[in-house]
Amino acid sequence: MEARLFQPLPELTLGGREGEPVPLSSFQGKYLVLYFYPKANTPGCIQEAEEFSQLLPEFERLDARVVGVSRDSPQVQARFVERRGLGVTMLSDPAGEAHRAFGVLKPGGGAQRATFLIDRVGVMRWRWPKVRVSGHAQEVLAHLEALYLADQLVNPFIQARRAKRALSSRLVPRELVDRLVEAAHLAPSCFNNQPWRLVVAAGETLARVKEALSSGNYWAKPTPVIIAVTSHRDLDCKLSDNRDYFLFGCGMAVGNLMIQATQLGLIAHPIAGYSPQRVKEALGIPADYVLITLVVVGWPGDPAGLSDKHRKLELSPRARKPLAEVVFWERFGRGMQAE
Ligand SMILES: Cc1cc2nc3c(=O)[nH]c(=O)nc-3n(C[C@H](O)[C@H](O)[C@H](O)COP(=O)(O)O)c2cc1C
Repeated sequence: MEARLFQPLPELTLGGREGEPVPLSSFQGKYLVLYFYPKANTPGCIQEAEEFSQLLPEFERLDARVVGVSRDSPQVQARFVERRGLGVTMLSDPAGEAHRAFGVLKPGGGAQRATFLIDRVGVMRWRWPKVRVSGHAQEVLAHLEALYLADQLVNPFIQARRAKRALSSRLVPRELVDRLVEAAHLAPSCFNNQPWRLVVAAGETLARVKEALSSGNYWAKPTPVIIAVTSHRDLDCKLSDNRDYFLFGCGMAVGNLMIQATQLGLIAHPIAGYSPQRVKEALGIPADYVLITLVVVGWPGDPAGLSDKHRKLELSPRARKPLAEVVFWERFGRGMQAE
């Protein structure tokens, strides 16, 4: 399988110092700078390994490991490390399998000098497909620092998501709707019961669903897609103290869907204001199912079509209670300051 930018790495195994198998997944939990070099003990490869080794404390400060990969045998790599006093880890890929997966195997079997920056969960976050040695380690370090600092913040798509109401009637392609439901379906659930049932209204049933909206949700009328989220308490764990988890599971699925929509540049706005009976009839949802929410999906539109109240909300900053009102430390009701 191919290693792709912004995707989790495929399962790949390289050879360690003694030729032992080292799966790339064993580096998860730290950032990984994976650099491919053509041949141990040749001038460019010596310089590159030395520059990475010199900056190793800086990479470690940013929670990163630096690993060099070549088609040399583990023995040749070990001699290279010893002779040059290198600090970087070397892994061997004699058959070129990892080289092929990373697209760095030249037609003659040699390696293209290239570097890949992989994050703590194993996602490739950047690549340098054609490396010139001089100053390269420093450039990778600068990039890692920016990435590391960004990753310390709240996820940008969680920050950017808003329940916007100004929607356009522009079509949402089928493949993007597929991405949304795939993201929803990757949510965790009690015993992996997957209690969510999603009904996508994007064609013949959409008009009837829109007719069932409360008047306050007039703004959803232009939208090309509405996704009904429905479930039944028997589809998920039921614990003795009223813990029916089906609503919780569906909530997490909708959470995933909304974050995915934000990444795609779409609005995904969950609503409670509709006639459940009329929507269920329109979509053929069994009467004993709970219609938990409708998620209105569309591209951002012109706020001019909104009511004054909604236009103001649309353009205002996000409102949240102070964190201390909802998050307690050690005991319910106790804020950080109350220590
Ligand atoms: C379960 C649920 C039901 C909601 N129902 C409606 C609704 O019927 N109409 C509406 O305009 N917004 C509705 N919203 C959107 C919320 O008003 C909105 O998420 C909230 O004001 C916070 O704003 P934000 O999502 O932009 O941070 C609903 C949100 C949720 C999660």
